[in-house]
Amino acid sequence: MNKPTSATANQQWGGRFTAGPAAIMQQINASIGFDRTLWRQDIRASRAHAEMLAHVGVISADDKSAIDAGLADIAGQIAAGQFDFTEALEDIHMNIEARLTERIGEAGKRLHTARSRNDQVATDFRLWVRDTIDGLEAQIIDVMGALATRAAEFAAAPMPGFTHLQTAQPVTLGHHLLAYVEMLARDRGRLADARARMNECPLGSAALAGTSFPIDREMTAAALGFDRPTANSLDAVSDRDFALEFLGAAAICAMHLSRFAEELVIWCSAPYRFVALSDAFTTGSSIMPQKRNPDAAELVRAKTGRITGGLVALLTVMKGLPLAYAKDMQEDKEPVFDAAAALALCLAAIAGMARDFTPDLARMERFAGAGYATATDLADWLVRELKMPFRQAHHVTGRLVASAEAAGLELAALPLAAMQAEEPAIHEGVFAVLSVASSVASRRSYGGTAPENVAAQAARWLALLGQETPA
Ligand code: ARG
Repeated sequence: MNKPTSATANQQWGGRFTAGPAAIMQQINASIGFDRTLWRQDIRASRAHAEMLAHVGVISADDKSAIDAGLADIAGQIAAGQFDFTEALEDIHMNIEARLTERIGEAGKRLHTARSRNDQVATDFRLWVRDTIDGLEAQIIDVMGALATRAAEFAAAPMPGFTHLQTAQPVTLGHHLLAYVEMLARDRGRLADARARMNECPLGSAALAGTSFPIDREMTAAALGFDRPTANSLDAVSDRDFALEFLGAAAICAMHLSRFAEELVIWCSAPYRFVALSDAFTTGSSIMPQKRNPDAAELVRAKTGRITGGLVALLTVMKGLPLAYAKDMQEDKEPVFDAAAALALCLAAIAGMARDFTPDLARMERFAGAGYATATDLADWLVRELKMPFRQAHHVTGRLVASAEAAGLELAALPLAAMQAEEPAIHEGVFAVLSVASSVASRRSYGGTAPENVAAQAARWLALLGQETPA
């Protein structure tokens, strides 16, 4: 274990070193196993850096051309799976730089002028998170579109609305689905906010203090699509709040998806049977032939754990680090890569299930009226028609529910005489508000569940998303 891995020191800093690292030193130090994910961003940033170095006269135009061609070649090799990554070269930055020098000689050795791996990794990682946010945003839009389309379809379909998972008041399925569209719109906004804040270029901050070379940081920032260069070199190489914001936004989005997944799990359980998922999104049991398990929904629910875990992991890595860079920060990547992959899977699975599920509308409507779900409508009627104070109406309604329950009846089936026994002023008119249909139709307040509101909201979302409202 304590034996050097090779007789020779690392070629990148061999001047001060005579021997190679212990095997375990190399193993714990290497990040190439995971940071190879950054190869596209690393090459892109190096090409922009070389272009700038030539522009300001730090390297020659010939060297720049050689570097550029060499990096393009390496990109082709990596893309084709023909690049031999080595642990001895630690990370993606040194793997690529060493290969470049192998290929083009002297010019390759000039690329690392006026930069450090510290600003390099900060730049590559920001580029990667930015690209990833763009992909996730497209996926969020897809899920929103799928949900809004179903919401338009079921704008008038009643289902029980719950609080405490107890039947509360009837709502429509469309209204319920649009609640998730609202959540996802905010998730998209959070990712966009994080993207806008992280869009400053660390390249040229060098190791921590900047550089004495006459570099043009505006030029590299623009070439890489950043809004501007970062203004403080210490901050630029040592903060990872952009990654944390990404993880925070991802964790919140995953939590939202997990709640929907949980509802799908509940809704397709045998006692509920509100919805069915097709063969495409369920699995069977090897022993119980009747089973149809909602594994995809369960895994969306479960993957939230690793995304939240990634956020906590990186916060913990960062919280005790003095400025500027410390090697601890190499641990920033895996949680972010893992969270991004998990969230992409979750979004794709939810999009699929949102399009796949078939609701049992008759059953949902039946349960929408069960459990005295229109009791609030009765209390509101007493206030409106009999001018009763709401607190008193609440009490009278409670007694009516109790007598209905004792008689084994729903509220709408309770005879008028039985109602008048509790409150003599009640008249026939009350029955008009006791149905599920009248209950949902009456909730026309802005943001309420009335079918016309829901249809308008679904249409609004579909228009915003550039999609057509289904006929
Ligand atoms: N692989 C390193 C990381 O991900 C790159 C930066 C290393 N810098 C250094 N001075 N050792 O953080």
